[in-house]
Amino acid sequence: MDKLVIQGGIPLNGEVRISGAKNAALPILCAGLLTEAPLKLGNVPDLHDIATMLKLLEHMGIKVSRDGQNQLTLDASDIHTHEAPYDMVKTMRASILVLGPLLARFGHARVSLPGGCAIGSRPVDLHIKGLQAMGAEIHIEHGYIEAKVDKLKGARIFMDLVTVTGTENLMMAATLAEGTTILENAAKEPEVVDLAECLIKMGAQIEGAGSDVITIKGVSSLGAAQHDVVCDRIEAGTYLVAAAMTGGNIRLQHVRAELLDAVIDKLRETGATVTHDDNSISVSSVGVLQGKGNLRSVSVRTAPHPAFPTDMQAQFMALNTVADAVATVTETIFENRFMHVQEMQRLGANIEVEGNTAIIRGTEFLEGATVMATDLRASASLVLAALVARGETVIERIYHLDRGYERLEDKLTQLGARIQRVK
Ligand code: UD1
Repeated sequence: MDKLVIQGGIPLNGEVRISGAKNAALPILCAGLLTEAPLKLGNVPDLHDIATMLKLLEHMGIKVSRDGQNQLTLDASDIHTHEAPYDMVKTMRASILVLGPLLARFGHARVSLPGGCAIGSRPVDLHIKGLQAMGAEIHIEHGYIEAKVDKLKGARIFMDLVTVTGTENLMMAATLAEGTTILENAAKEPEVVDLAECLIKMGAQIEGAGSDVITIKGVSSLGAAQHDVVCDRIEAGTYLVAAAMTGGNIRLQHVRAELLDAVIDKLRETGATVTHDDNSISVSSVGVLQGKGNLRSVSVRTAPHPAFPTDMQAQFMALNTVADAVATVTETIFENRFMHVQEMQRLGANIEVEGNTAIIRGTEFLEGATVMATDLRASASLVLAALVARGETVIERIYHLDRGYERLEDKLTQLGARIQRVK
């Protein structure tokens, strides 16, 4: 298994291009199932999770042609199975996103209950309840969701908590339903908006994406379209934190600052200077390598968009381990999302966990050690800690990082970090 070896202590400087968002690309690939016409996609990140999804879609009969770097065309004119088998979906929870499209277009789906990051129980009851409200008959049998319907019918669906993939699944299903569907308490994440934009290009009638009420008027079929995936705000946020921690001056390109308001706000609280234009974000900071007092501790509390994203929590925890005072990180979306704490403690971090809150006391310095990546964002936080730690850090089990960060070590090397992948 691959490892990353990182020598800490180097400020980051330079420019880096932000990739397309994994969490937008995954549902958009599934939207390819909704039409027999070609769907041309650009800015698709080259990631392990994307390869897993493409493999699953190909298993169902979708033809994928790779048109160039980060560009592909999906052709779902000949789907021969409506099943997503356990072996293919166990590593990725987002495979649940094939359920809505399959049911909407073919009236049948058999999808294994998903796996994915081990960050809590993460049920899919709201996906199922929503589809049932649209008339689907659904049973769970032998670990599979068995769903069938003659024709989905529009419905008013209230989701009692905000779910990103739940909103996406129901929105995709509703595009081909008979009549109008209203999703209440819908997720407002930029990735939901990006999916809606792609569906609209395919001919869907959707209003309100980005607000908490989305209205979808069903149409009889969807057609060909071309869409570029929105930038990855979590990847961007991770590099911004890296620069704030190490000090230096970096510029991210192909990124939209307005998708990162909560993160940029918190970065400014640390003392970093953040500026942006339409297509780029720059951050400069003195960083902790020049003294601990240069980075102020900042407390964060995760909540659905536009509040602070749970996918950035671990990175801010890393930042706080070397900041000047005491901060708290409160996780309200997932239970069990503090698995990075133990590993950070191995690097010398001072963190206590009480329920869903971690209390982090900034220490003078971290020290390199061997640590193990646990889930995707936890792994990113270990990379950040390693960038400021004294000496060498070895991060094992980095396949989690390959699920979500395109060419991480190349991009960090481009910014001056000393990081190497060891096979
Ligand atoms: C998506 C993102 C993930 C991010 C998360 C929250 C993708 C592929 N993944 O995950 O990176 O961390 O949003 O921003 O886009 N829940 C239920 N029942 C359901 C669905 C969800 O109880 O039917 C709960 C979950 O257990 C969790 C909360 O709702 O506590 C939010 O989960 P959700 O928004 O669905 O997360 P994902 O869509 O899986």
